[in-house]
Amino acid sequence: MPAGELVCQEQDLEVNAALRVLVKGYPVAVVRDSDGEIHALGDTCSHADISLAEGDVEDCSIECWGHGSQFDLRTGDPLSPPAFEPVPVFGLAIEDSNVYVDITTVTNGAKAPDEALLEKAAARSAKEQ
Ligand code: FES
Repeated sequence: MPAGELVCQEQDLEVNAALRVLVKGYPVAVVRDSDGEIHALGDTCSHADISLAEGDVEDCSIECWGHGSQFDLRTGDPLSPPAFEPVPVFGLAIEDSNVYVDITTVTNGAKAPDEALLEKAAARSAKEQ
């Protein structure tokens, strides 16, 4: 079995659409770009507390509805202001149509969620349920 947690099936992801999932309580946007490729990014915009999965996907980017920053799905880099810091891009594996995300593997040099952040996310997600 691949590293990480099973978050969805490939067929749950439409082209040019995103799905918000929680991995250990931490929000992740799983996104299928216009070429059909699947990516996993930190779901919280690096500018403010907005879910990127609620934004529009175009080509290989996702747009935050908060203030319009677009993020490259491969690198996590903001392509337009006001966000200026990348969001983490996580390790992703697909096996038998199952999509696994490993939030301990950050592929773009952005800050990985640390223990304190994971605890906060888990507490928040428990409160939401
Ligand atoms: S909250 Fe995302 S660009 Fe401002």
